[in-house]
Amino acid sequence: MILMPDDCLSSLLNDEARYLQIEEVLPAEGSAWPISRELARFLARVVVTMKPTSVLEFGAGQSSLIFACSLSLAGGGRLTSVDHLIEYCSEAWEKLKATESIDASLVISRLRPILMREGLLYGYSDAAPTIAARGPYDLVFIDGPPSRYGRDAPLHIAYPYLNTGALVVLDDAVRPEEAMTVDRWLRRYPGLELVCFDLKFGRGVAVLRHNGDKNVRLSPRSIASATSICVTRMAKDVFRSLIKIEACL
Ligand SMILES: C[S@@+](CC[C@H](N)C(=O)[O-])C[C@H]1O[C@@H](n2cnc3c(N)ncnc32)[C@H](O)[C@@H]1O
Repeated sequence: MILMPDDCLSSLLNDEARYLQIEEVLPAEGSAWPISRELARFLARVVVTMKPTSVLEFGAGQSSLIFACSLSLAGGGRLTSVDHLIEYCSEAWEKLKATESIDASLVISRLRPILMREGLLYGYSDAAPTIAARGPYDLVFIDGPPSRYGRDAPLHIAYPYLNTGALVVLDDAVRPEEAMTVDRWLRRYPGLELVCFDLKFGRGVAVLRHNGDKNVRLSPRSIASATSICVTRMAKDVFRSLIKIEACL
């Protein structure tokens, strides 16, 4: 892995460089669920420049294809992707099989409330063993779970396996929930630094770097905040289910 200084990252964000192989697998213009084309191109530039040995992503699909192609362009590497909906990402993963020099693994996991040291959080409850076995990671991309579940948990699961200099990229940073997630991560992990937080880029992007310090700080305020959000989401889920049951009666 090549370490990425701040100025290099900012120049990659604004760079116009494009790769033919990536252009061919970009998501359709204006698609609702996949990453934006802008973010896809940025991620490809990061991978080709940084040459990560191992990439971990939460929220598989079109972005998995972008990572596979750019890792292949960079000379090869390992991709581990986690999602809760096989029907959402299976098409992209079928295409991805043809990519050369890639060791790719897709984990389909249930999305459930998990009691963690950071509080009660929705997370991919079956993914931890594979994440541990395939680490350490140089790049972690967090684009799942969908916003109504919250995105705090993926980094808590991945954090012990981050290499020094690893980058963490969070999509959808324009949403207040994601901004609060970044704030809680920074309070929890003194070794994380916020390199970039650009609300105008795609749907907003936050880039953090792990400086190697593996100390952690537990803040009662963060635990309470994360837990109360999760409990509210669980209550909404129960309410939605009740409405569905009532509609069937
Ligand atoms: C924003 S999507 C992006 C996934 C991936 N990074 C990409 O570029 O395609 C994130 C998550 O939304 C989920 N998702 C997609 N369609 C959905 C739907 N109709 N209802 C609920 N979740 C959905 C996917 O399973 C995925 O985990």
